[in-house]
Amino acid sequence: MTQDLRSGPGLRYSIRESLCFETKPEPCGMVIFGASGDLCARKILPALRRLGERSLLPERFFVLGVGRSAFDPASLRKGLPQAAGADYLQGDYTSEDTYRRLKLRLQELSNRHDTRGNTVFYLALPPALFHDATHRLGEAGLLEEDWGGWARVVFEKPFGRDLASALALAVELGDHLKESQVYRIDHYLGKDTVQNVLMLRFANAIFEPIWNRDHIDHVQISALETESIGRRAGYYDSAGVLRDMFQNHMLQLLSLVAMEPPASFAPDWLRDEKVKVFRALRPWADHPPIDNAVLGQYAGYPGEPGVARDSRTPTFAAMRLFVDNWRWQGVPFYLRSGKSLRRRSAEIAVTFKPVPHSVFKPLLPAHLDANTLVFHIQPREGIALTIEAKKPGPKICMGALTMDFDYLQAFGEHPPEAYERLLLDIMLGDQTLFTRHDALEESWRFLEPLLKAELPLRSYAPGYWGPQESEALPAADNRAWRQPDER
Ligand SMILES: NC(=O)c1ccc[n+]([C@@H]2O[C@H](COP(=O)([O-])OP(=O)(O)OC[C@H]3O[C@@H](n4cnc5c(N)ncnc54)[C@H](OP(=O)(O)O)[C@@H]3O)[C@@H](O)[C@H]2O)c1
Repeated sequence: MTQDLRSGPGLRYSIRESLCFETKPEPCGMVIFGASGDLCARKILPALRRLGERSLLPERFFVLGVGRSAFDPASLRKGLPQAAGADYLQGDYTSEDTYRRLKLRLQELSNRHDTRGNTVFYLALPPALFHDATHRLGEAGLLEEDWGGWARVVFEKPFGRDLASALALAVELGDHLKESQVYRIDHYLGKDTVQNVLMLRFANAIFEPIWNRDHIDHVQISALETESIGRRAGYYDSAGVLRDMFQNHMLQLLSLVAMEPPASFAPDWLRDEKVKVFRALRPWADHPPIDNAVLGQYAGYPGEPGVARDSRTPTFAAMRLFVDNWRWQGVPFYLRSGKSLRRRSAEIAVTFKPVPHSVFKPLLPAHLDANTLVFHIQPREGIALTIEAKKPGPKICMGALTMDFDYLQAFGEHPPEAYERLLLDIMLGDQTLFTRHDALEESWRFLEPLLKAELPLRSYAPGYWGPQESEALPAADNRAWRQPDER
């Protein structure tokens, strides 16, 4: 059945209902460590509420918050379906006693809600506690899957701060967890438009034949933020933009654009292809950072609360990367991300090659705008394809025409929050959108030389597009950064 969605003058969207599939997870409980924290309040609980509203929570479900501080469980219950339970257990994350009490409470809740022991442990905690919490859960026998149901553990970024620490953490967690139990969240991957990169590439016959070096001129991936670091100095000043954005979100987006089609959408087959992209990235040893990367810091950053006066933490980075394989040889990928910039925008823009010859003399191929396909990720999700077309009238006048699919306009509602999709997938046991250990390792391995490179730190005024020196990266190839569309 075809359903017409919002249409306007010159615009019609429709979708075939029969192609929608959604599964409800089996009964389970969710234990949220750090339930009093920012992530739980802003992302996890609202996502659970929305899943409840969409009837996508399991029939039998409960939430159990864990934390050091006194906390009212009523705020966990708010918005959850009546039948779902929510409770809170106060205790130190490093004390054996907490986990002994947690086990007893879980057994009781699991019996009461008949969730068969299936449990998600969400570590919404500072990363320094990941190891302790997992170790204690393991010691208490809560991660064993043979005593009843399944046990899955969710980790937030940052997962390590360099290759060595990520490997060490993986070894420590490996004592208690199988890879099939580990869910490393990259919330960009939960966004509908990001998933649409794969749908567009692999569910349509028209794009894949031209998705290569013969037809694509270059790719730009940007994640620009207007906000400064606010009150996140404690985390940000020791991380910086390379760890905060590039090791995870930016490289993940690149992998979706560059990967080969997997034979099936099976989680590990898709994740195999992503790892191959990371392995094919041109190493910095053959591609000097000084010529291919620019780091910046916004003026006033060292005066921000909690930031060292002499901080050299980059708040902006831009880079030119190459994927050294047959499909992408010679095609530059320009990536940039930073804080305190002019506009909030995250997008992937694929620019195609110019026409080889112009039949519209005196117009030359260079006078015709190249076709672009843009995946708008933030602030409004959508996909836009720009083509060259004739302007109405007796004269031959060409102009760029953008076919702009806007998610909100088409569906009449905002796309689901990334956390909705991701929480649902965790409960379903679908690891497709979660980073696997080898991808994590390869992305750190790739980034490590850049973290160690002593690049000049360029200053930029808040409210601009980053340091001027970043313009030189595409300019060296006769290209320029895209001005993000105002949407
Ligand atoms: N917030 C975000 O938007 C965001 C975005 C991306 C990733 N993350 C990641 O998600 C995780 C949670 O983030 P968050 O912003 O919710 O963190 P948070 O608010 O700083 O901390 C979460 C909870 O952990 C406990 N906690 C904090 N510091 C502690 C310490 N030193 N020792 C023991 N317990 C401590 C506190 O609960 P109790 O005092 O009750 O124990 C706190 O409410 C982190 O790994 C973070 O990097 C967060």
